[in-house]
Amino acid sequence: MIPLNFLGEGQSCDFTVTGSWAKKAYSDSKKRGKVNVIFDGAEEKFMRIPDASSLTVTAGAAYLHITSNETIEGIEWHDFPETGDVPMIADMSSDIMSRPLPVEKFGMIYAGAQKNLGPAGVALVILREDLLERCPDTLTAYLNYKIHADKNSLYNTPPVFSIYALKLVMEWVKEQGGLSAMAELSEKKSSMLYDTMVQSNGYYSCPVDEASRSKMNVVFRLPSEDLEKKFIDEAKNEGMIGLKGHRSVGGCRASIYNAMPVEGTEKLAAFMRKFAEANPQ
Ligand SMILES: Cc1ncc(COP(=O)(O)O)c(C=O)c1O
Repeated sequence: MIPLNFLGEGQSCDFTVTGSWAKKAYSDSKKRGKVNVIFDGAEEKFMRIPDASSLTVTAGAAYLHITSNETIEGIEWHDFPETGDVPMIADMSSDIMSRPLPVEKFGMIYAGAQKNLGPAGVALVILREDLLERCPDTLTAYLNYKIHADKNSLYNTPPVFSIYALKLVMEWVKEQGGLSAMAELSEKKSSMLYDTMVQSNGYYSCPVDEASRSKMNVVFRLPSEDLEKKFIDEAKNEGMIGLKGHRSVGGCRASIYNAMPVEGTEKLAAFMRKFAEANPQ
């Protein structure tokens, strides 16, 4: 919907290609117009986020698209670029609500619900009002953001269960102390896992650049693929599921979204230590 609404005839847009999800959004924009790739992490196997101050946006670009957290590769933007007149659009599906955000820096923020917001079935869109003027009248209604905005997100029959559950999650976040409490929690949980890797003397390794490490998806490798398989199987027996890395990258991945309590990462860290001791390289 982003290129359909905002990439006008003859215009170009900017992209940072930081991983699997950025690549998918990039290929959609490419179907509609010219895309300037201002950062491409492919050659480095998507192991880092670019330094925000090193990016140069293209004057006159319709937008710059970024993916604030690459769910599969385990890298996350910790500082956002200044984009001047070029609206920055961010896919925040996998780290929305995990920290306070400089919302004013963005032309648009969008996120699927299913990580930190609620059950799948709704998507969150925060859109700067002036951008609605760009939505072409020629678009079919459902694909047009202006129609959704004008109709107060009620153009279609809303999925009330998903929206109700999302409201409950927002209330829970508030009760926990809001976004700064969520940030504190994520810092605590993720650093517990990254520290466990450091203390393992190389048994566990994190393939991504230290400054780019995600606080939502902690990726790690063991000394061999056989040990990784054993680790995932034994963790499962102890009630820890979903630790297998995405099939496109392999390895292990601990997704520690807001709903994961500190005790969950404590249990995983203890298991990592025990496993390394029991299975020397
Ligand atoms: C960063 C990111 N963007 C987009 C998606 C796609 O979400 P959906 O499957 O709801 O389209 C995901 C799903 O994991 C994601 O992590």
